[in-house]
Amino acid sequence: MVLETIAKIIKVQLPAYLKRLPLPETIGGFARLTVSEWLRLLPLLGILALLGYLTIRPFLPKKKKQRDSLINLKIQKENPKVVNEIDIEDLNSANVCYCRCWRSKTFPVCDKSHLKHNELTGDNVGPLILKKKIL
Ligand code: FES
Repeated sequence: MVLETIAKIIKVQLPAYLKRLPLPETIGGFARLTVSEWLRLLPLLGILALLGYLTIRPFLPKKKKQRDSLINLKIQKENPKVVNEIDIEDLNSANVCYCRCWRSKTFPVCDKSHLKHNELTGDNVGPLILKKKIL
């Protein structure tokens, strides 16, 4: 049923529509078209423009979304700059991992969110590990 309808449109209605179009024989003929003739041409011109755009779209330079260039997606967005200060003397454990991927829910401390981020994006970020020398 659907294919019959599509076939009828392509075989009968489309040729009849194209025959009735007021296509001028010369470029200058477009200047002599009336408003109603232009209106009858609009659907065809729209389809041709869409097909042209879809054809060249793969070759157009990709616009980089602003969101893609952000490193920090949600940490302390209310601040103009995120700065964390930690006194080395205050480090209690032998190893402390600090987040460098900006995805940690315990920022600035790494919660291993970088693993998921790396898996999803193919990135290779990891934490900064501070090791305390035990003498
Ligand atoms: S969670 Fe960000 S580096 Fe580990």
